[in-house]
Amino acid sequence: MIGQSFSLLYAMKKNTAEKWVQERIRKYGPVSKLTLFGTPTVMIHGQAANKFLFTSDCNTLGNQQPTSIKRILGSRILFELSSDDHKRVRGALVSFLKPEVLKRYVGKMDLQVRMHFESHWQGKEKITTLSFNIVCSLLFGLDAGERRDRFVEHFQNMIGGMWSVPINLPFTRFNHSLTASSKVQSMIMQLVNEKRTAMTEQTDQQGQQQDLITCLLSTKDEENNMNNSELLTDQEIVDNVRLVMTAGYDTSSILLTFLIRLLANDPVIHASIFKEQEEIAKSKTSRDELLTWEDLTKMKYTWRVAMETLRMIPPIFGGFRKALKDVEFGGYLIPKYAKLTLQLTHSTENYTDFLIFWAASLTHMDESIFQEPSKFDPTRFENQSSTVPPYCFVAFGGGPRMCPGYEFARIETLITIHHLVTKFTWKFSSLQEKPSSTTPTPLSQLLGKGRRRSHVLQLFPKNEL
Ligand code: HEM
Repeated sequence: MIGQSFSLLYAMKKNTAEKWVQERIRKYGPVSKLTLFGTPTVMIHGQAANKFLFTSDCNTLGNQQPTSIKRILGSRILFELSSDDHKRVRGALVSFLKPEVLKRYVGKMDLQVRMHFESHWQGKEKITTLSFNIVCSLLFGLDAGERRDRFVEHFQNMIGGMWSVPINLPFTRFNHSLTASSKVQSMIMQLVNEKRTAMTEQTDQQGQQQDLITCLLSTKDEENNMNNSELLTDQEIVDNVRLVMTAGYDTSSILLTFLIRLLANDPVIHASIFKEQEEIAKSKTSRDELLTWEDLTKMKYTWRVAMETLRMIPPIFGGFRKALKDVEFGGYLIPKYAKLTLQLTHSTENYTDFLIFWAASLTHMDESIFQEPSKFDPTRFENQSSTVPPYCFVAFGGGPRMCPGYEFARIETLITIHHLVTKFTWKFSSLQEKPSSTTPTPLSQLLGKGRRRSHVLQLFPKNEL
């Protein structure tokens, strides 16, 4: 029943989860069976495995997340939806997150990053949540102020228990998360109501696309000829706004954290990125002139460095799918149900879903795909379509569930790095030079969020260019 859960959790705690999965593959081969968190699971990896996981139809494989995530983020989040429901809700989110729409918001995002640096970084001891503020402003139209501060506080309490044991007792971490989650839910519902009222008073189409919530509210159910009814229910909007907040917070901040560390440790890469960004900064008539979509298209080297960082340190370690019927992969039969080895009752047999586990780093560090996988080499992404085979770079997943926040993360990362390298130099005062493992560590731990860890990153403002 417990199977390999404790040894995996222990490896995660020690930051050696990647070594743990590699060791299993060395011992048991490319397809191996294990029991994780009480559930029979099969671990698969490689190009064929990723293709199978990401492109199997929704009647063959379903998505599967730990119970705690569903309880905290809600039952109507994309992760929990399948078939037409998944397509409908995802389509509504993508209608705002697609490049054609986001390119209009580059200037607004630039402004947010500048404001964040001015108010939270310069002359301050503590770094707060850049990604969260950007998501709040761009996606929910919630600018700096007391309300956003309350939002951040509840949000951080909410995500604190997402990977906890789902036992809801007054003293558990999970219970605190659930309480915070309902506060976040009320705040989002209030925002939804305010925006709905504002929309009825507004006539121009432009205003109806100004943030994700407004965009979701103005998406109508045209397919069913119900032009006046909204495509998403209020619950779907609230749940998916909470999901987007969460999905866009930890991931982008992990990427930025490791980029900052890389630039602190590698003067050659830092110099090349600085050269690219300095040219863009110099092309501006004043320091106040905002970045544009065209500027971002010139940041090719910077994005290649980010992609190589994502290859070596994918912010999302991996995930689970569940077999919805008996399926065959690589000469093995993965059954829909597995019989539990521990019988809980004498009278009935216990069956459970069979899970399939994928870990991005297994493919990313496969030397038959990426030569010298441990070497940091951004040139791998110079011409990605010809140098990286399909389903081999999976930091953003793949197929119909591939991350819809890719473009948002790219814009946010490029703008942040632009300001960092052109306005600051920095060094880590008490951090190891080399990571002990490539397993991601939250921003707070690397950059110093709690009292004990503050002053880890030291920023020095540069003189004007
Ligand atoms: C570096 C940044 C990011 C990385 C590495 C990343 C990675 C991923 C991965 C691996 C998945 C799962 C794909 C699968 O199961 O096949 C995912 C899903 C998702 N991501 Fe991201 N993500 C990032 C940023 C963002 C941002 C900024 C947003 C929102 C603005 C976002 C929203 C989502 C959503 C809503 C899903 C669920 C998609 C679905 O189930 O259809 N992500 N992401």
